[in-house]
Amino acid sequence: MPATQAPAAPRWRPELEAQYAELGARLEPLLPCLEWPLHLPWIDAINRLKRERGAVIMAHSYQSPEIFHGVADITGDSLALAQAAGDCEAEVIVLCGVHFMAETAKILAPHKTVLIPDPEAGCSLASSITAEDVRQLRRQHPGAPVVSYVNTSAAVKAESDACCTSANAARMVEAMAAEHGADKVIFLPDAFLGYHVAQQTGIELVLWHGRCEVHEQFTAQQARHARERFNARLVAHPECPPEVQEEADFVGSTTAMGAWLEKEKPERVALITECSMADNLRTRFPQVEFIKPCNLCPHMKRITLPAIHDCLSTLGHEVQVPAQMAVRARAALERMLAVGRHDRA
Ligand code: 13P
Ligand code: SF4
Repeated sequence: MPATQAPAAPRWRPELEAQYAELGARLEPLLPCLEWPLHLPWIDAINRLKRERGAVIMAHSYQSPEIFHGVADITGDSLALAQAAGDCEAEVIVLCGVHFMAETAKILAPHKTVLIPDPEAGCSLASSITAEDVRQLRRQHPGAPVVSYVNTSAAVKAESDACCTSANAARMVEAMAAEHGADKVIFLPDAFLGYHVAQQTGIELVLWHGRCEVHEQFTAQQARHARERFNARLVAHPECPPEVQEEADFVGSTTAMGAWLEKEKPERVALITECSMADNLRTRFPQVEFIKPCNLCPHMKRITLPAIHDCLSTLGHEVQVPAQMAVRARAALERMLAVGRHDRA
């Protein structure tokens, strides 16, 4: 079947309800009840096809619950998915996330087939900066090492000394400053994550003007409203504007948010981040009440069950990274993986 032809929708069958009863119960609080019979045949078809293909499905925490709980073998934040790709034994990886995550998986697992269900799933941070911008920054700040957020293209990673995620950004900046004997570090492309890292490290950062189009929309006023109206604790992703970070009880990466909930066990919390994050954590913390605000990432939401089924059946949308670029980008990613997870409260 050509990659462009939509697969026929699999049919609902009554026996599927019993077969997936446990999953149905888990998803019940997260999905409108009318959606479950629509998702169920796709979930079953994908799980069967995945086994036939010997594929592994990795899903970012911002993926919708029917993907995150229904078909993914490995779930987590961008650091967890990068680590999993490096360790993966399956021949085929289907990356349910945005394009830079699939590229990262391909760079770390160069001999595997890495597929992305929708290659148009981009990221406003990754598209905010080019490899030439990085070379220009280096010319302007000679001797300053470059630490790039993983939310960048392979071409930008290839120009960087090290990568980081929000789960180890401060640690990576400190490590690169020490290794290069530098008093400043070029940190790109997220200016708001840069603000958070500068606060944590006290190191002078040269910042880029990139922003996450999802997190930049939150305001301090919204955060205060959640606290005052609902008596909620506030947990914000470091891609949020500084005024929001300052209102929050905790600022941390996707995984750190879960760890904070584990430790603090709040009665009510507002997770100031992408909406599916709260949905996917809700099943882990049934005693916690999750309050909006949240925003949807339009790029993450391009990944759907039919698109996953399509890419598994056609092995379409394979991700490729030019060999020389991949070698240089891999070196920057390996610096990050060697440091691992270093969330700070
Ligand atoms: P994490 O590194 O926390 O997974 O975040 C990735 C991302 O795209 C956040 O918007
Ligand atoms: Fe990019 Fe923001 Fe979407 Fe994450 S949430 S993929 S940073 S646009």
